[in-house]
Amino acid sequence: MASLTYQLLSVTVFLGAVQLISGYSFNNCIEDPYSDGQSFNCVRRKEKNMPAIINDLPPSAVSLNISTTPLWHIPNKSFVHLPNLQHLKIDNNHVRIIDQFAFQNLSQLKSLNLSFNNISELIPSVFKDLHNLTYLSLTNNTLKQLPEGIFSTLLNLDTLIMRQNFLTNFSGIAESVSHLTNLKKLDICFNNLTSLHHSNASLPESLTTLYICRNNLLTLGCKHSFLGFIQLLDLSYNPRLPTTAFQGVNLSHINYLRLRSTSVNVVEFLNISNVNAGHIDFSGMGLKNDNLLKELCKSLKRKVKRITKLGLGNNGIENLTKNSLSCCPNITVALDLSRNNLKSTSCLNFLNTQTLIKSFNAEHNHLTSLQSCKTQNMVYLKHLEELSYRYNRILSVSYYAFYNTPNIKTLKLNINTIAFLHRKALKGLKWLTTLRLDNNLLTDLFIDTFEDNVNLQILNLRNNRIAVIFNGTFLSLSKLTTLDLGGNKITYFQPSGLDGLKSLSKFYLDGNNLKQIDTSFYHVFQDTLTVLDLQSNQIRFLNAEIRSPFMNLSKLTDLKLDGQRPHGLTVLPRNFFHGLHSLKSLYLTNNNINYLAPDAFDDLTGLHFLTLDNCCVGVTQLHPGVFKNLKSLTKLIVENMGIQNISKEVFGNLTQLHTLQLNRNVMQSIDVDALETLPKLHYLDIRNIPLSCTCKNSLLQNWTVHNPHVQVVYLYNLRCPHDKKVNFYNFDTKVCYKDLGEYLFISTAVVIFLFTVTPLLHVKLYWKIKYGYYVFRSWFSEQWHRLREEEENCKYDAFISYNSSDEKWVMEELVPNLEGNESSFKLCLHHRDFELGRDIVDNIVSAVYSSRKTICVVSRNFLRSEWCSLEIQLASYRLFDEHRDILLLVFLEPISERQVSSYHRMRKVMLKKTYLQWPGSDCTNPTQAQELFWYHLRRAMRTGSRLNTEENYKSTVSLSSM
Ligand SMILES: *[C@@H]1O[C@H](CO)[C@@H](O)[C@H](O)[C@H]1NC(C)=O
Ligand SMILES: *[C@@H]1O[C@H](CO)[C@@H](O)[C@H](O)[C@H]1NC(C)=O
Ligand SMILES: *[C@@H]1O[C@H](CO)[C@@H](O)[C@H](O)[C@H]1NC(C)=O
Ligand SMILES: *[C@@H]1O[C@H](CO)[C@@H](O)[C@H](O)[C@H]1NC(C)=O
Repeated sequence: MASLTYQLLSVTVFLGAVQLISGYSFNNCIEDPYSDGQSFNCVRRKEKNMPAIINDLPPSAVSLNISTTPLWHIPNKSFVHLPNLQHLKIDNNHVRIIDQFAFQNLSQLKSLNLSFNNISELIPSVFKDLHNLTYLSLTNNTLKQLPEGIFSTLLNLDTLIMRQNFLTNFSGIAESVSHLTNLKKLDICFNNLTSLHHSNASLPESLTTLYICRNNLLTLGCKHSFLGFIQLLDLSYNPRLPTTAFQGVNLSHINYLRLRSTSVNVVEFLNISNVNAGHIDFSGMGLKNDNLLKELCKSLKRKVKRITKLGLGNNGIENLTKNSLSCCPNITVALDLSRNNLKSTSCLNFLNTQTLIKSFNAEHNHLTSLQSCKTQNMVYLKHLEELSYRYNRILSVSYYAFYNTPNIKTLKLNINTIAFLHRKALKGLKWLTTLRLDNNLLTDLFIDTFEDNVNLQILNLRNNRIAVIFNGTFLSLSKLTTLDLGGNKITYFQPSGLDGLKSLSKFYLDGNNLKQIDTSFYHVFQDTLTVLDLQSNQIRFLNAEIRSPFMNLSKLTDLKLDGQRPHGLTVLPRNFFHGLHSLKSLYLTNNNINYLAPDAFDDLTGLHFLTLDNCCVGVTQLHPGVFKNLKSLTKLIVENMGIQNISKEVFGNLTQLHTLQLNRNVMQSIDVDALETLPKLHYLDIRNIPLSCTCKNSLLQNWTVHNPHVQVVYLYNLRCPHDKKVNFYNFDTKVCYKDLGEYLFISTAVVIFLFTVTPLLHVKLYWKIKYGYYVFRSWFSEQWHRLREEEENCKYDAFISYNSSDEKWVMEELVPNLEGNESSFKLCLHHRDFELGRDIVDNIVSAVYSSRKTICVVSRNFLRSEWCSLEIQLASYRLFDEHRDILLLVFLEPISERQVSSYHRMRKVMLKKTYLQWPGSDCTNPTQAQELFWYHLRRAMRTGSRLNTEENYKSTVSLSSM
């Protein structure tokens, strides 16, 4: 019977121990799988409650993003368990209330983003603990004002963003940042400020970047020197800000000033301000005609000889003539005419006096064609390197359109409607390295289109209407590394259509109408190609036995074959990827594959990433061994493949697999053995799988909940398919651990047995069983901790077991005498040293086992106390069964053996062991007797605890004579 009890107990204790190992999944967050426990995203959850969102995150968290949730309140001490946080984003929620101590303990925090919430008020000391904060964003809230001292402790703050609020009082803002000697950037655009009036506060000298756009400034109203250290000042979109506001304001450090959409008159402004005229952006200042431009140029020229950039965007300029910019100082780098109404560039003739320009931008205008510039009297711009005509309506580009700008390196003609690119349009551009022709209406490329562009490295022709690549089209482009032909209508390449591309590394052909993978690829690109994108073509195989089209592409690292229209790849032929030993990423999603050759992936020994999401018709089953050579694979996506069964045979050899996404499959159970063959698995997504909540999955449940290495995405939200109210992680599995019949038989037998025996036991053996149980527990925990304990020294010299009625003696006599200066033993007293909140029995067990001795202060009250008996039981257990002599008995009052006799075990101890009798005040010479008592007690405490020899017994026993 005893052994049965012990077995039951051992099962209980064992299960208890297992519960301690906690799993590795989070209620509302996902750990970034490669962040090593540092980065967490809690995004798009329905949870309102901050603790419920983040309570289960580990203290290793460095970066936390809580976004798009209904969270409205950040309570006190929300993050005390995350003391290592450095980056905290709580944006796009509904936060209204932040408690005073919400950010307590975040002394390591570097950035805090609270943008897009509903914060209208802040408690003055709410950021008090954030000494290390460098970045704070409060963008798009409803702050009307800042409380005094709100940033007082943020002395490391570098960037402060308060855009899109309702702030009206600049003075308060200036005051709250004036002491921030590290502040560099302040953004208060989109508020309701009317002036920069600032009473006595000044801005810190470190502040160089100040954005005050989109307010309601009527004046500046600041002192002469107030903006004296600002380098970048944005005052745009303050429609009522007049020129006079700048009278007497020092802007001498400015190197970029934005004044668009204000009421500032440029010419007057240049007259009254000390700003460096070359550093003003003249965009959006109404300089729409020649007269205004000429006036500007003259004023500029009075101030400076040359300027690096002239920004004239968004001025409504329609025409520029030879005279428009002729009075301007020399522009040495860039002229920006974007977002005007230019209808023609006239071969840039208006730059007749500005031939030093390196970069010209006429994006977002109304250009409809680029004329030929091989004419007489055209301006020759030999320094021009960058030319952009993006976002126009250019339909045609004539021959020699860039004849007068022969040295351009970057030409952007993308996002137009170019249908006609003359075959000699790009003639002469031999230094061109980047050519953007994407998003046009090109249908044909001619053999001589790129003839002169021998240095071209990047050619982007995406989203045109090219159908055929003719022989020799790219023959001159031996330096081209990136060719983007995606989004065209290419059906085929003529046999030598790709000849000449000797350096091509990245080749994008996605979104075309290719029906097969051209065999010319591997002739041409043998040792250069690294990226090949064939996504969304019309490639289809009907035969499993073909020659691999990728042979010899030994450098290829990325291959995309996903989404072949309209039928999908259909068959993934045998040895399809033959020779791709360097391949790292392979995309095969959305392909309707109904035959996937068992050896298809055999050559991909270097593959790191494979996605087969929705690649295969639902019924395709993966062949055993299909992944057998993928020894480098770290991420595998097999979502929505109709997988019915995860087996070792299929998934077994993925020894490096770190991330496995199994969502949206149809298996009802997952074999834990199969998962355990993936030693590096760290991240498992099994959402939207009809995993049944039955005994088939009891091991899986246990594995997902307790595996400390694998994050199961949103485990606690997985529901049982039969009843959405039941959770997968805690569905009832008790019934699964035994066969039901056996289970019923045993439970009935046990019940009957207990009914018969319990009354008997209760009468006769109650205490014995109870002691037996605790003795067992002590034995168990002792076994459990033995190794550890034998290494470390005992925490205490003695554990004092006493009844509370004897506390006075313990505190006034025992403690001073043993812990006092001359002896300095370390004592364990339950009211002082027990761990709060821990089970009292556990506390006693650990006290006895972490003390060298147990001193029992025996009085009549003590003998009546159950817990003290337990303590004796434990200590005497160690005496009898372990031969560790740890028990010292101190009798406070004379107790006859008869009185002890009912405490059978105590009597045994008394017979075997020594005990000390406290000489009470009624003995003849109390002081001396007591001194002797302490002497003996201390000596007894110093003796070793191992019982080795008979001698040891005798010497201690002799003590009892005193
Ligand atoms: C601020 O960060 C540095 C290192 O980044 C650290 O040494 C220092 O202790 C932090 N300061 C506070 C107040 O925690
Ligand atoms: C905040 O953003 C929303 C939309 O994102 C916008 O409608 C609203 O005006 C913004 N609030 C402020 C104060 O600019
Ligand atoms: C801005 O302030 C003015 C008064 O200064 C007030 O009339 C207006 O409603 C405010 N606008 C907003 C959006 O708070
Ligand atoms: C621009 O030039 C065209 C003719 O080239 C002329 O009709 C038009 O009036 C001019 N516009 C302006 C604003 O000068």
